[in-house]
Amino acid sequence: GVMKSVSGLQDLEERLARALHVNQAIIVSGNSDRYSWVKKEMGRACVQQMKEKLAPKDIVAVAGGTTLAAVAEMMSPDSNLEEVSFVPARGGLGEKVEIQSNTISSTMAQKAHGKYRLLHVPDQLSDETRESLILEPGIKELLSIIRQAKMVVHGVGEAETMAARRKTKAETLGSLKDKEAAAEAFGYYFDRAGQIVHKENTVGLQLDDLTNEQFVITVAGGASKAEAITAYMKHRPSDVLITDEGAAQAILDL
Ligand code: G3H
Repeated sequence: GVMKSVSGLQDLEERLARALHVNQAIIVSGNSDRYSWVKKEMGRACVQQMKEKLAPKDIVAVAGGTTLAAVAEMMSPDSNLEEVSFVPARGGLGEKVEIQSNTISSTMAQKAHGKYRLLHVPDQLSDETRESLILEPGIKELLSIIRQAKMVVHGVGEAETMAARRKTKAETLGSLKDKEAAAEAFGYYFDRAGQIVHKENTVGLQLDDLTNEQFVITVAGGASKAEAITAYMKHRPSDVLITDEGAAQAILDL
């Protein structure tokens, strides 16, 4: 648009999209590592994309994190969001309640005047507990709703940062280091080649569930996430990447 050509980011967007093999890159000015308002601008850009791409009654699965919380903060009603259901992509991952996907989906729904459903599962699950929980009728129903999502919106984190923030147990930390984990997105960890090296034990959207019909928006910025964003996009290039200038420049300089 007009704003983009004025700010000169359009060329950067095209180069970034080509480099990461994403259909579209949207870049906001600044570096969110340095200024928190930049994260809010990414949030604003994400809300705009959601309003353009969603239709009334669609289901949208949202992940957690501070970037997704910024998206929720910028949400507002729109005719395309009428009766849209916001659901968490996956269960708890050991984050503070403010940035859990359950909280984010309910905030988004309230601000968009839409609907939401919560996924009530504890953070640390044994395989045994998880297997039996997914058979509970309420959880089973919600998991099927999550799989019907038209759109998935998620953040990407730098692996070590995310593992530390979630107070990941020492054994897992060691294994993430050994396997050179570089990126994290909705509870999955990826190495630089985009291979999954670890998956947190929670229920919800599995990466295998993502089909080409689903519209995936990735929102992640800050120069510190350059390697993480690059690694994740090697796993599965998104339909839209919303990022900032700081990350975009650093990615192209890698
Ligand atoms: O799930 C969390 C994301 O991977 C990154 O979180 O937006 O707080 O950096 P963030």
